Amino acid sequence: MKKILITGGAGFIGSHVVRHFVTKYPQYEIFNLDKLTYAGNLENVADVEHHSNYRFVKEDITDGDRMLQLFRSEQFDAVIHLAAESHVDRSIANPVDFILTNVAGTVNLLNAARAIWQHQPETHRFYHVSTDEVYGSLSFEDQPFTEATAYDPHSPYAASKAASDHFVRAFHDTHKLPVVISNCSNNYGPNQFPEKLIPLFINNIKHNKPLPVYGSGLNVRDWLYVEDHVAAIDAIFHKAKNGETYNIGGNNEWANINLIKRLIAIVDEKLGRSPGTSLSLITCVADRAGHDLRYAINASKLKSDLGWEPTVKFTEGFEKTVEWYLRNEQWLESVTSGAYQEYYRKMYEGR
Ligand code: NAD
Ligand code: TYD
Repeated sequence: MKKILITGGAGFIGSHVVRHFVTKYPQYEIFNLDKLTYAGNLENVADVEHHSNYRFVKEDITDGDRMLQLFRSEQFDAVIHLAAESHVDRSIANPVDFILTNVAGTVNLLNAARAIWQHQPETHRFYHVSTDEVYGSLSFEDQPFTEATAYDPHSPYAASKAASDHFVRAFHDTHKLPVVISNCSNNYGPNQFPEKLIPLFINNIKHNKPLPVYGSGLNVRDWLYVEDHVAAIDAIFHKAKNGETYNIGGNNEWANINLIKRLIAIVDEKLGRSPGTSLSLITCVADRAGHDLRYAINASKLKSDLGWEPTVKFTEGFEKTVEWYLRNEQWLESVTSGAYQEYYRKMYEGR
């Protein structure tokens, strides 16, 4: 029996990681720790909450004393750390939350793990989930990011994730903490909070609301279906050597404007609208401050070392994603209205 702490398991990627580990590994005890910020929603993991190897605890990783207490009382064997403030636009408006959760929160977890695991570090694992945004921005001609690309973060979000990655490596080098890190490209799929491009635009197309395209619309992102990210996390968690870093990417670059047109075509078709109906919703707005031009990942190390590569074709993943958001109207309605937060606040207040 292994006891694994997964942080941020009520968020987008974390909820898929939790479901995967709870159902694929009944021999593991999965401990989902989440603060339930605006981005955390227990509905995302409602289908696994009655499994006997699953537990949820509402906690804040910025509380260092509490993290230490938890590590002491629960004696986790491993951590998969996903809890973070994750939205670039919010980091521009309010960077302090990003320092607190992404940097101080990560260091609190590292400190707790170091204190509790110090006598047998080799039997444990601290897996830090990070982003390709730490590498900065590519020109259209540049080669994709490799694990050797120098860090050059631009947004406050990317700066906070870069700082957290450095702390993870510092604990490995200084305290021999058994760490692994992965840096992944943009994810898409079910349960993503509708402030990020794909769910926001699906929702807006459906409700005939404007689609705010930042700047030229030519910025490029490398999109990966969330279940492929989870499969990579599984492989790295189980097979990577201590101290390793892996890039994870979809080998699937899209200029925003092309992606948006594709999205419009699919949503219009699924809603029975005539082709191109929603193109008029495209609205060019001022560019995001410091908007990175292009992200692209070279994930060949992960393929050659651990045999991982993306399996979900973009056309298939994109269709599935659109269908999920159109089918789960109630989920979208509840997260956009904030009703779920009030519900869970009341539910957990008394515990
Ligand atoms: P998300 O915003 O959907 O979820 C984050 C979760 O963390 C939420 O459930 C939130 O409640 C929780 N959380 C926030 N602050 C907390 C705190 N102080 N204590 C405890 N829990 C807290 O994010 P996501 O898109 O699922 O991203 C998860 C991780 O993956 C992040 O570390 C992010 O940097 C990384 N990542 C995301 C992407 C992407 O495309 N979404 C790509 C690469 C890496
Ligand atoms: P986002 O989903 O916020 O991910 P990230 O900034 O982490 O890559 O945005 C993806 C791309 O879409 C990015 O280039 C910014 C752009 N974008 C828009 O043009 N309009 C929007 O309303 C949003 C949210 C994003």
